[in-house]
Amino acid sequence: MNNKEKEKLVKELYEKYPYPSRSDSSEEKLKSFALWTAKTINENNDYWEGKTILELGCGTGELSVGLALCGGKVTAIDFSKTSIKKAKLLANKKCKTNKPKYILKNILKIKENEFKKKFDVVIALGSLHHTTNAKKGFEIGCKNLSKEGVIFVGLYNKYSRLRHRIKRIVVRIIAGNDIEKRIKIGKLFFDKKIQKERIADKFGQVHESYHSINEVLEWFKEQNIEFIGSKPTYKTPIIDEINWLLNKKNAFFVMSGKKNK
Ligand SMILES: C[S@@+](CC[C@H](N)C(=O)[O-])C[C@H]1O[C@@H](n2cnc3c(N)ncnc32)[C@H](O)[C@@H]1O
Repeated sequence: MNNKEKEKLVKELYEKYPYPSRSDSSEEKLKSFALWTAKTINENNDYWEGKTILELGCGTGELSVGLALCGGKVTAIDFSKTSIKKAKLLANKKCKTNKPKYILKNILKIKENEFKKKFDVVIALGSLHHTTNAKKGFEIGCKNLSKEGVIFVGLYNKYSRLRHRIKRIVVRIIAGNDIEKRIKIGKLFFDKKIQKERIADKFGQVHESYHSINEVLEWFKEQNIEFIGSKPTYKTPIIDEINWLLNKKNAFFVMSGKKNK
């Protein structure tokens, strides 16, 4: 399958199953996503106040709305029409003023001078590994980040997602390329209780890439980004990542860094 075909199928999946489509969208819950992200750099929700924020791959908008409720000036991008539609509805419901701005666009097609100004913060959680070039997506994020701005990137881990990768292979062998069948089998064999959008994201997805701490640190170096924090924290890359696998934890990790002057 070439990159164009992969991209088309990823988009179609999120058009049909917009993610995360959370059922609890209380203000408290939405703010908790903003807090979860701030904690990566040992901050709290005061951190977002007045910051200009670019979110890449915002899905149904839970984080972008949470950030806006904390005073962030958010621009959020996704290429799934239904996700953007749901995000706008959520923002209209939750934000009286200071609504995020939503843009329907492919992350990999954002230009360096796409926006009038660079952003104080760029956030890409759970999205770049579904693009056909996660590293390029990261570089685009960095190009739109102001000097001393902070970037957060959340990706599937190469080591600790191994367990899930094996499950995906089993599902694919049984269901072949039939996405609906994959979702059905994924549900049957593994996660019976979770909602359909989440199962679709776990098993219906045709493309996801896997990354390691060392790889992301290399990306940081190339883009002149100084590491400032991660979630979970780690002491020794690879060893900790293998431990995450053995402890059935942290198949997803977030790294954050500051752009040097
Ligand atoms: C797993 S969801 C994550 C959503 C949200 N960031 C979260 O953490 O809940 C991945 C999102 O990335 C979007 N996405 C994937 N590839 C994209 C691309 N090339 N351009 C724009 N959005 C993309 C999908 O449409 C989807 O909404």
